[in-house]
Amino acid sequence: MCVACKTELNVDEMEAFGERIVSIMNESSLGLMISIGYRVGLFEAMKSMRPSTSDEIAASAQLNERYVREWLGALATGGIIEVEEEGKRYHLPANHGAMLTEGGEGECLAHLTQYIGLLGGVEDKIVDCFRKGGGVSYSEYPRFHEVMATDSNQSVVSSILDHILPLDPGLILRLKNGIRVLDVGCGRGNALRLLAREFSKSSFVGYDLSDEAIEFARDAVFQEGLDNIVFEKRDLTSFHDDAPKGEFDLITAFDAIHDQARPDHVLAGIRHALKRDGLFLMQDIGASSNVAENREHPIGPLLYTISCLHCMTVSLAQGGLGVGAMWGEQMTLQFLEEAGFQNTRRYTLDHDIQNYYYLARN
Ligand SMILES: C[S@@+](CC[C@H](N)C(=O)[O-])C[C@H]1O[C@@H](n2cnc3c(N)ncnc32)[C@H](O)[C@@H]1O
Repeated sequence: MCVACKTELNVDEMEAFGERIVSIMNESSLGLMISIGYRVGLFEAMKSMRPSTSDEIAASAQLNERYVREWLGALATGGIIEVEEEGKRYHLPANHGAMLTEGGEGECLAHLTQYIGLLGGVEDKIVDCFRKGGGVSYSEYPRFHEVMATDSNQSVVSSILDHILPLDPGLILRLKNGIRVLDVGCGRGNALRLLAREFSKSSFVGYDLSDEAIEFARDAVFQEGLDNIVFEKRDLTSFHDDAPKGEFDLITAFDAIHDQARPDHVLAGIRHALKRDGLFLMQDIGASSNVAENREHPIGPLLYTISCLHCMTVSLAQGGLGVGAMWGEQMTLQFLEEAGFQNTRRYTLDHDIQNYYYLARN
């Protein structure tokens, strides 16, 4: 009997839950190790190797053998790689390698595990916030823009031409003929640079608060020799007051509205900055605003965690609303409506289990 809640305890259920906790410990540990393996190139090195010793694997990846051996131990006991009976030779099965490396047959998912370490880095500060409120600012996440850019390469950049832009029939033709495009919260600007390369008659502007992201984007523009794109450092918190009027035919926001300090101000500014027949294309986390409806969400715990340890807290750190990544469709539509958008349509895309795509017009 649980004395506190006066409920009869079920020993089988308690034991099963204990096993689940142990399994959570194992799986979270593997998350960290996969992230490290991805970053130091161990999966890349192993995917073309026959069963090999830790010395051979370390030499091939140009890494320290002692660390590599311990890493191999974690991945072998975790069933990610195989170890031969005598415990000396390790092998990355091809089916696993395809999902842990880029440019192969499968869809690489290893980069996503980088979020675990990234978020773990601010755990102490988040614990403080649980006690005192407030938020953790963007500057506390040194690798955020790097990790975000790899994430966005997969969810947005790889499918923008074939799947995202075609959501609005005629949009590709308009881009070919030449229109003005703004991307808000553009980060390192990979998506916008791809569009600038593809549609040379159109002109592109990217706004973001981050010095690091804007510098990276400008550098890349210089390297690529693009002359139809500019990136500007800009705080969008008061965009409802200082957005240019009626300047853009298309405004995009990829995973960038919910973690703004004031999503309401940004959306109002976007509407103001669109031409009369302009289009707002927004990608944001696909979820319900009602947590109970997210119980079957395939990555619900991951997204609420990323929200708590990043999206929500960076907004609160700016004195913002902190709506969080899981603000959900109902709240998103409400914010769009309050910003003055009529007839917003919401889409899902097969390649992207994480996001909804919204098309909104003035
Ligand atoms: C989740 S990231 C998405 C970045 C990019 N769109 C992508 O898909 O890779 C959100 C972006 O919003 C930017 N951001 C956050 N608060 C902002 C603010 N107040 N003004 C302008 N940009 C802001 C961040 O710097 C970050 O680059």
